[in-house]
Amino acid sequence: MVKTIDEIPMNNSFKALVVTEQEDGTFNRSVRDWSIDDLPDGDVLIEVHYSSLNYKDALSATGNKGVTRDFPHIPGIDAAGKVTNSDDDRFNKGDSVLVTGYDLGQNTFGGFGEYIRVPADWIVPIPEKLSMRESMILGTAGFTAAIGVHHLRHNEIYPDSGNVLVTGATGGVGSLAIAILDKLGYEVTAATGKMDQTDFLKQMGAASVIHRDEVQDKSSKPLLSGRWAGVIDTVGGIMLDTAIRQTKHNGTVACCGNVLGHELNTNVYPFILRGVTLAGMDSGNCLMDLRKELWNKLSDDWKPDNLGQLAKTCSLQELNNEIDQILDGKQVGRVLVSLRD
Ligand SMILES: NC(=O)c1ccc[n+]([C@@H]2O[C@H](COP(=O)([O-])OP(=O)(O)OC[C@H]3O[C@@H](n4cnc5c(N)ncnc54)[C@H](OP(=O)(O)O)[C@@H]3O)[C@@H](O)[C@H]2O)c1
Repeated sequence: MVKTIDEIPMNNSFKALVVTEQEDGTFNRSVRDWSIDDLPDGDVLIEVHYSSLNYKDALSATGNKGVTRDFPHIPGIDAAGKVTNSDDDRFNKGDSVLVTGYDLGQNTFGGFGEYIRVPADWIVPIPEKLSMRESMILGTAGFTAAIGVHHLRHNEIYPDSGNVLVTGATGGVGSLAIAILDKLGYEVTAATGKMDQTDFLKQMGAASVIHRDEVQDKSSKPLLSGRWAGVIDTVGGIMLDTAIRQTKHNGTVACCGNVLGHELNTNVYPFILRGVTLAGMDSGNCLMDLRKELWNKLSDDWKPDNLGQLAKTCSLQELNNEIDQILDGKQVGRVLVSLRD
């Protein structure tokens, strides 16, 4: 049963997953009451119905000061819900909206609470053909995957260009990148450390699955056999370096992640002898016009088939365990956080 916006508690109290810093420097997280009065100033108060779990949330939830400076804090870089009140005339009470990225969940209280208050400039109206629930199954992961696909298409990498590699394939960004690319007719190779998840990856739309070792070349060869027309890399480090060297003439490698570290050792030959393009994805600060364009595509011809079934659902109370799983690299696919069921 979804609570409606008419049921805002009189004392303005709501439930949130709150991370606190202990005197000994460790961090504790628990579901407890928070007050709407303690949300930051902003244009629009939103009653959050769904959020989702991303790697960055796990970093914030464990006290990573590169993500979140001050505690206590409510993580959650994604939120979808209904406008409760708005000081900005672009939004009205009851509008279905989503927020991903910007500062949400980093140093602004985020979607792991039943309310957020944010600047109107951060808000995307949820397209008609997408439900609130579907929008958060996608969340930052799906939106980032869409930016990667956008880069490939912008550089004229289409299904007939050849095979596209997706690394970190069982992760949130990876699995949704596979699903979107498959929907658009690409032949996708999924690189994973979890070969026991081959069936899952094929269900997501991968044509073939390889072990991630095949994309971890430790030789100093400046170029490797060209295998990929395009790459969506979510891992970084040696996998990004290898994928660049394995990319064919005029291919594009889109990168978003640093699971394997922030360093990139590469050389110029893939770029000057094969015309490879390295494209960065920054979902948090994607410009609003492109943001809206991509969400519209995700609601329509880029929308993965069976999107509604592509995530497991958890409550705020169940989030702790899911956060541990994503930190251990054991999470498979997406985790939808339901705040009002
Ligand atoms: N720039 C942006 O806008 C943006 C947006 C979203 C996410 N990101 C970043 O993108 C990355 C992926 O995010 P996510 O939400 O998809 O995370 P995730 O769900 O945790 O997925 C990461 C995947 O990386 C693989 N992996 C884990 N440990 C590894 C290791 N030691 N070596 C190689 N691969 C390993 C695993 O896939 P397999 O087991 O299948 O190999 C894992 O499922 C993170 O670094 C995140 O911060 C960036």
